[in-house]
Amino acid sequence: MKALIIYHSQQHGNTGKMAEAVAEGFGDGATLWNTNEKRFDVTKVPGYDCIAVGTPDYFSYMAGTLKTFMDDIYIAERNGVKGITGKRVVLFLSHGGGGRAKESFEKLFNRLGDVVGETVESVGSPDASVLDACKALGKTLAARL
Ligand SMILES: Cc1cc2nc3c(=O)[nH]c(=O)nc-3n(C[C@H](O)[C@H](O)[C@H](O)COP(=O)(O)O)c2cc1C
Repeated sequence: MKALIIYHSQQHGNTGKMAEAVAEGFGDGATLWNTNEKRFDVTKVPGYDCIAVGTPDYFSYMAGTLKTFMDDIYIAERNGVKGITGKRVVLFLSHGGGGRAKESFEKLFNRLGDVVGETVESVGSPDASVLDACKALGKTLAARL
């Protein structure tokens, strides 16, 4: 089974640490992709069984590169790419104490498919309990396949 762990991480690497823990929890078959480094070709999404998405809170919204990811998905579907949505999805979020991006993040990424589990949140650098919650999120993603 293949999972795409797609995230934006830039400022401190906080969201990236969470993504690595989700991938560890999922086990073999997880691909990590930081959209801050490179745009993801959404025509490759049908090759994955499930998706984990992580963002930092930027001005009480998700990072722009993840909004672009969803924009690309919408356009690809309109252009006839099949199997791009309808996935199992889990979400994680890093913020500096505001965390107001959660609602809009969850609402937009509901479009990807069936969101399972609760969004895992970290204030600043993820501590051991946040990383454990991220590993559990990865296990949840794998268990639901
Ligand atoms: C441009 C920018 C805007 C931010 N806006 C918010 C915000 O509105 N609320 C908040 O709680 N944190 C905000 N932060 C803090 C980040 O969400 C936080 O540092 C996060 O852990 C960074 O993740 P990263 O290290 O993976 O890039 C902002 C950071 C940046 C760089």
